[in-house]
Amino acid sequence: MAHRIAVVPGDGIGREVTPEAQRVLDRCGEIWSFELEWSLFEWGCEYYLNTGRMMPEDGLEQLRQHEAIFLGAVGYPGVPDHVSLWGLLIPIRRTFQQYINLRPVRLFDGIESPLRKASAGELDFVIVRENNEGEYSEIGGRLYRQTEHELAVQQSTFTRRGTERVIRYAFELAQERNGVLASATKSNGIIHTMPFWDEIFAQVSADFPEVETGQYHIDALSALFVLKPQSLDVVVASNLFGDILSDLGAAVAGSIGIAPSANLNPEREYPSMFEPVHGSAPDIAGRGIANPIGQIWSGAMMLEHLGHPEAAAGVVSAIERVLGETSIRTPDLGGASSTAEVTDAVLGALNEQAGARP
Ligand code: NAD
Ligand code: IPM
Ligand code: MN
Repeated sequence: MAHRIAVVPGDGIGREVTPEAQRVLDRCGEIWSFELEWSLFEWGCEYYLNTGRMMPEDGLEQLRQHEAIFLGAVGYPGVPDHVSLWGLLIPIRRTFQQYINLRPVRLFDGIESPLRKASAGELDFVIVRENNEGEYSEIGGRLYRQTEHELAVQQSTFTRRGTERVIRYAFELAQERNGVLASATKSNGIIHTMPFWDEIFAQVSADFPEVETGQYHIDALSALFVLKPQSLDVVVASNLFGDILSDLGAAVAGSIGIAPSANLNPEREYPSMFEPVHGSAPDIAGRGIANPIGQIWSGAMMLEHLGHPEAAAGVVSAIERVLGETSIRTPDLGGASSTAEVTDAVLGALNEQAGARP
C-alpha cells in the first residue's frame, strides 16, 4: 500500500530543496519496493498574500488525512514572522502533538568542521527539543503602545506532562545510543520553570540508572558545544534552548544546510512532520544553490518513521559517500555545485548501492 504523504514546500529555498528530496525518496521507493503518494499543498507566504491566511481554514484537517508531513521552510520577508509561523508551522506541530523535535548532528567525513580539533565520527549527537510548549507561547501581551511606558510580557508554560514526556524520550534514546544525556536549563537565572525542569529530570533519571547524566546551564552548554562537542551523545532541551542549540550544533558540523529534523508524535495518533532545521534562506533563494542535504536527510528520517529503515540507511550512506568521496557540494560547504547537482550525486550513489544489492 502507498504511503500518503502531505508535502508543504513553503517558502524561499523550501520550494527548491523539497522537490529535490522527493526525487531521492521516490527512487528509494523503486529500489526498496514501496510507494509514496504525495499530495502537494502550496501554502505559505505567497498564499497568505493572496488569501489573508497561511493555509485554508480546514488546512490541518486536510493534513491529518496523511501518514506524514514533509515540510520545507516557512517564513519570508513581506509577511511578519509571527504571522507566518503561528499561521502554519507552529499549529501543525501543536495540533498534531509533535512534542518531540529530534535533531541529529553529525560531522561527515569530507566536511571540515569550523572546530579544528573535531574529526568525523567523533562528532555525532542528537538534540531532543521540546516542541509543544515552553517559551513559545501566546500568553502575554503588550500594553501602553507607543508611550514611554510601553511594555511586553511573555509567559512561558512548562507542564509536568509536557516536561516529563520529552525527558523520558531523551533517556530512552540515550539508552539506545551511548548512554550519555545532557540537559540544558538556566536554573540560576530563571527561577520557576527551570528548577521545575531540573526536578523532573532528576525524578525521571531514577528510572534510568545506567544513563550517565549532566545538567548544564545553557550558557555553559553552548560553550561545550564549541569546545568539546565530541563529549555529547543526547541533549535534551526546552523549546527555545533546543532551537538555538540545533543551529549551533549544525554549524559545528559544517553547515546549517545539512541538518535534519523530525517533529514526532511518538504515539502515532497524528501525523509526524519532517523538515530541515534551516529556514527559507531569503538571502540565497531563487539561485539554485541551496544545500538539499538537510531536506534529503529529513526525508531519510521520514522513511525510518514509515517503517523503511534499510531505505533510510541507504540514503544516509549515499550522503556519506557524496561528502566523503567527491567534492560535489553547495557553496555553504565551500563547493561550487548546484542544488540539483548535489541531489544527482546522492541519487548516483543510491543507484550504485542498488546495483550492488544481491
Ligand atoms: P535561515 O535558516 O533561513 O538562514 C540562515 C543562514 O543560513 C542564511 O545565510 C542562509 O543562506 C543559510 N542557509 C540556510 N539553509 C541553507 C541551505 N539549505 N543551504 C545553504 N545555506 C543555507 O534562517 P533565517 O535567515 O533566520 O530565517 C529566514 C526565514 O526562515 C525567516 O522567516 C524565519 O522565520 C524562517 N525560518 C523557518 C524555519 C522553518 O520553517 N522550520 C526555520 C528557521 C527559520
Ligand atoms: C525551527 C525554526 C522555528 C522554531 C521558527 C521559524 C518558529 O527556527 O524550526 O528551528 O523556532 O521552531
Ligand atoms: Mn530554528
